[in-house]
Amino acid sequence: MKFFVDSADVEAIAELNDLGMVDGVTTNPSLILKSGREIIEVTKEICSIVKGPVSAEVVALKAEQMIEEGRKLAEIADNIAIKVPLTWDGLKACKVLTGEGRMVNVTLCFSANQALLAAKAGATFISPFIGRLDDINLDGLDLIADIRTIYDNYGFETEILAASVRAVNHVSEAALIGADIVTAPPAVIRKMAEHPLTEKGLQGFLRDWEKTGQKIL
Ligand code: G3P
Repeated sequence: MKFFVDSADVEAIAELNDLGMVDGVTTNPSLILKSGREIIEVTKEICSIVKGPVSAEVVALKAEQMIEEGRKLAEIADNIAIKVPLTWDGLKACKVLTGEGRMVNVTLCFSANQALLAAKAGATFISPFIGRLDDINLDGLDLIADIRTIYDNYGFETEILAASVRAVNHVSEAALIGADIVTAPPAVIRKMAEHPLTEKGLQGFLRDWEKTGQKIL
């Protein structure tokens, strides 16, 4: 499974990247706002750190303007993936931009039918939002499973990029289902390392080590 970091926080991205935990990055207008930085400048810095796909999102609503914005964002670096919303205009923009050989991440996906359309439009990545479906008492992971089944049934090459990941179980469950990629906030990725029995076992080892009176260094 590939790990993308869902953030525009360069410091947090760099720290995880140094650990070999970063196969790509996803940003969106809300994450750009949170970063407090200008979109082109912060995206360029992220692309200089991370070699994998870096998603930058268009904000236009009409296909023609989405295409223009997408082409401008793609000029930032070769590893830019243009993010477009799952609307009819977004699908039109996806078809044109992928036709030009560009990576396109179709975002704000909430149904299997939407994911089918994105694959037909040639999307490089589809971003189904797990957390926001959970927020309305639906099961976001069910959507990941449905898309996986449909894409496998017909051999679609669009990669499933599980997004809106709020908790560590989203990561392991998406991996069990077979999502190609998960994009998660830095805090969720770091939390994956935590387990109470690990902490308890470590404290026990250190207590016993203390009793040996020995030192390694
Ligand atoms: O990549 C999409 C993600 O940033 C949305 O997450 O928690 O706002 O639903 P969230």
